[in-house]
Amino acid sequence: MLHGPNLNLLGERETNVYGAVTLEEINKQLTEQAEELGASVEFFQSNHEGELIDKIHQARDRFDAIIINPGALTHYSYALRDALSAVSLLVIEVHLSNIYAREEWRHRSVIAPVVQGQISGFGPLSYSLALTAACELLKEGAKQR
Ligand code: DQA
Repeated sequence: MLHGPNLNLLGERETNVYGAVTLEEINKQLTEQAEELGASVEFFQSNHEGELIDKIHQARDRFDAIIINPGALTHYSYALRDALSAVSLLVIEVHLSNIYAREEWRHRSVIAPVVQGQISGFGPLSYSLALTAACELLKEGAKQR
């Protein structure tokens, strides 16, 4: 579970847009949900593009899926997009807010074309839906193998 720039400030940052729930609370809820689903999840937040890219590379041999909220990097980071596209993992893009209902520059995601799907606009529930989707898709994949 990768959280991009400024998401460490959730709970105090623009609460009218992002809500009052902190990143720690979101991660705690996801840990519990993962346990119920029989999955294990690790979290990493960074305000630095390169650190997120390093984590994506490291995830290659360690994880089945990446769920990522790239923050503002969503809208312009070709480096992040290339990193996600370089690893052959299931990737789901998540946003707390509905990026299509906000400023025009947020309507474009350079990440979206290289992910399985995007979940946007459901607040913390966006992450939870993504986790459910990742587990379901991985189960289906396992059945096919
Ligand atoms: C965000 C939306 C982005 O446009 C913004 O830059 C963020 C958060 C969201 O979760 O709604 O930092 O990714």
